[in-house]
Amino acid sequence: MKIAPSILSADFANLAHDVAVVEQAGVEYLHIDIMDGHFVSNLTFGANVVKALRPHSDLVFDCHMMVDDPTKYVADFAQAGANIMGVHAEATPHLHSVLSLIKVAGMKAEVVINPGTPVSVISEVLPMVDQVLVMTVDPGLGGQSFLEETMSKVKQLATAKKENNWNYDIEVDGGLNDQTVKQALAAGANVIVAGSYIFGADEPADRIKTLREAGET
Ligand code: DX5
Ligand code: ZN
Repeated sequence: MKIAPSILSADFANLAHDVAVVEQAGVEYLHIDIMDGHFVSNLTFGANVVKALRPHSDLVFDCHMMVDDPTKYVADFAQAGANIMGVHAEATPHLHSVLSLIKVAGMKAEVVINPGTPVSVISEVLPMVDQVLVMTVDPGLGGQSFLEETMSKVKQLATAKKENNWNYDIEVDGGLNDQTVKQALAAGANVIVAGSYIFGADEPADRIKTLREAGET
């Protein structure tokens, strides 16, 4: 189980501090939500913030691109120090091409599907991806409730991975806490994003510990 705190719920005026807190608590990834105000209605930050954070952290930077036309961001994010770049299947008709570009740029390639998108939409790119993100809420906002029905897709992806000897990690994002993490892990996910559950607490480190213990029981 890898934990990926989402800085969407961190204090944007103290990002380096909040990242240090979760890094010291022993998480594996830092989940960075990029929203362009088009693919989703909210707007967050771009490659310049990833670049500014890079010298402050050794964590794997897991960039979730909630943007139209993700291809145009690949070079900038690679240069900024992103390690994983996740593109939504719904955001581009050129999925194979953008995933290839991400790999050529030296990053790990991830494909992302919204709750309303079936696994069949991404079946052709599964052999080439390093990670698949199954959204467990509709993207755009932190603090929403986990959609249990998405677990059937996590199961499908776990089965397909096993049957075909594929290598991707399975990530879930949205509404994860010490209860829902159990369902996600049982279905076959191994990368857990959590935003409000971790950063909404006075002691994010305690939440990380609780989340890990909940996952291990
Ligand atoms: C939602 C983002 C998530 C968000 C999750 O669009 O992709 O990463 O930060 O927030 P929580 O964990 O609060 O549901
Ligand atoms: Zn996200």
